Amino acid sequence: MNSAQPIHPHHYVDDRPQEGIFRVHKNVYADPQVFELEIEHIFNKTWSFLGLTSQIPKAHDWISTYIARSPILITRDGSNEIKAFINACRHKGSQLTRTEKGNNKYHSCPYHGWVYGSNGKLADIKDKEHAQYAPAFDTESHDLIPIGKIAVYKGLIFGSLSPDVPELEDFLGELKFFIDLAMDQGEHGMEFIPGNIEFAYEGNWKLQLENGTDAYHLTSTHVGFLDLMAKRAMGQGNIEAKQFDWQKRFSQNGGDFQFENGHTLIWLNQAEVKKRPIYPSIEAIEKRLGKDKAQWMLKMRNMSIFPNLQIADSTSLLMRTFRPLAVNRTELRYWCLAPIGEPAAQRAWRLRQFEDFFNVSGLATPDDTITYETCQAGFESSKLDWLQGHARGMMSVQEGASETAKALGFSPRASVDAGFMVQSESSFHPIYREWARMMKAGVQGGKTYE
Ligand code: FES
Ligand SMILES: [Fe+2]
Repeated sequence: MNSAQPIHPHHYVDDRPQEGIFRVHKNVYADPQVFELEIEHIFNKTWSFLGLTSQIPKAHDWISTYIARSPILITRDGSNEIKAFINACRHKGSQLTRTEKGNNKYHSCPYHGWVYGSNGKLADIKDKEHAQYAPAFDTESHDLIPIGKIAVYKGLIFGSLSPDVPELEDFLGELKFFIDLAMDQGEHGMEFIPGNIEFAYEGNWKLQLENGTDAYHLTSTHVGFLDLMAKRAMGQGNIEAKQFDWQKRFSQNGGDFQFENGHTLIWLNQAEVKKRPIYPSIEAIEKRLGKDKAQWMLKMRNMSIFPNLQIADSTSLLMRTFRPLAVNRTELRYWCLAPIGEPAAQRAWRLRQFEDFFNVSGLATPDDTITYETCQAGFESSKLDWLQGHARGMMSVQEGASETAKALGFSPRASVDAGFMVQSESSFHPIYREWARMMKAGVQGGKTYE
């Protein structure tokens, strides 16, 4: 196959589990036509993360974000209901808000001054009494356009441009067990620590999607980071950062779980649980949620919620979204997630770990970002076709629930229970199975969800 052939998205993922084959074609990351189809058939037709309820606790609070190309305004209206609209004025389409958050009973458009309430209803058309509009003008609604669907799970606000999506809880499915392990850490909920990171890289959005559950790159991409950690383990350098002794991770058991709807997760037993910022609260968590959940909160867990949300509880607790801007350009947003009301010492501890590893200037993130750009550069070659980076660990995959999953009472579509060193790439399979399913449904004109 080469890029001159017409698009058959189901041909871009070579998924033959019985023959032990799972391959993804480089055009999936590099073909601008494929990218356009992704916007139309994936991002415009499924749930996307919009924000946290704790970002908009009071009436008339608002935040703004995007679902792919659509600017979105999320508000809490006067009756405390959370709503989401296309962040575009009905007059000539200008974005209503130019910043990310605020509290406004009314939103006044910066262009010609039309005013909307926090409930999205038009409140005023500037100088309407002189306007000489024809009667037909008032036969159409001037209110903000609501998105297709909005729902909240454990403080996470999701929205979909299309109303034809499964209920949010069904969409998240069995992954909810792990979402709960992140969002139930705080008795009073979770919040973003003020200050987020935003930057863009010259690469496809799925490079970040994969890397979030890629254990295999750690010992090569982050070799400088590992060297530094080894020095800290000897008492040198910034030991205040409370980082982990990463060498201790390599001998641990872990695995991955594949879920419906493209969601995926890797996990690893944690050798140094006392370095986790929630450790001082673990007894209280155990009392509130039981021993199993508390113990699992101390393990490393990185999850991807298809298509573009990741929660990583590997050093600090990170939430990350990535917005596709072009086939070879992606915007990343990172936040540090923390229990509401967390004691100051634990919060400082969490922040030191976060900035050390995840910050845009941290010791790990720049290594990752540059590899996305070098992969994208490799995809430019017409001689490169099928990639070989989705096959590792295939022999350790078992259908359905592993003993670990059964013991915890959830049912993934497939599981891997193995030592860290397998560094399985099977966690990418649900992503591309869902990608191919949605693209195929879209291209063939069928329904995305039954
Ligand atoms: S574009 Fe908003 S008032 Fe003109
Ligand atoms: Fe990395």
